[in-house]
Amino acid sequence: MSAEDQKRAAGEAAVRLIEPGMIVGLGTGSTAAHFVRALAIHRVDVRGVATSEATADLARLLKIPLLELDEAKDIDVTVDGADEIGPGLSLIKGGGGALLREKLVWECSRRCVVIADAAKRVPVLGAFPLPIEVVAFGHATTLRRIEAVFERFGMPVFPHLRLRDGAVVRTDNGNLIYDAACGAIEDPAGLATALKAVTGVVEHGLFLNLATTALVGTDGGVDTVGV
Ligand code: A5P
Repeated sequence: MSAEDQKRAAGEAAVRLIEPGMIVGLGTGSTAAHFVRALAIHRVDVRGVATSEATADLARLLKIPLLELDEAKDIDVTVDGADEIGPGLSLIKGGGGALLREKLVWECSRRCVVIADAAKRVPVLGAFPLPIEVVAFGHATTLRRIEAVFERFGMPVFPHLRLRDGAVVRTDNGNLIYDAACGAIEDPAGLATALKAVTGVVEHGLFLNLATTALVGTDGGVDTVGV
């Protein structure tokens, strides 16, 4: 089974958790897109809260009604992909650049379901570069402070400004992203707190104690981790 097939299977499995009338957080990325398409195919009567402009565009195309986060307030369940799934459903997210809106939506959700292909499961987080969203003003200064945080954690990490086709990537919020090739992150909670404390850092891609369930597509079917 290809990774794409595993992602599709996980997305379809997540639809079975959705009940009519629910307010559903709609994640971002290729796996979340499978979920959004499956919601439309199965005509599940929900209202969505999109975690990115790209997902909002897809939902509108599929005629899934959308609410702004401030209109929804409480979200029944959010379904989203991840770049890595580590121990205790700790995650790295933000490969698609939507980490800030994703975290805002996840934190308002009663249940957060992460969907992924089998390769995303790792024994320790950090092989995937950790995205860090920063405000554009003074970003090189912010970068130096981020590097100092990594140094304090004994991690010689020099994050790279995210570019696409040679141009600096701007998030949906107009911010920049630095990708930090950490290697093994031994203390995700400590690092998360320290990064968040840097002025100029808007958000980082460590999602800890947020996912309640993982649905992981494998060659043998979809594995459920968590509740
Ligand atoms: C978007 O910013 C990310 O958090 C995605 O959820 C993550 O990168 C997973 O993407 P794929 O489902 O495309 O692998």
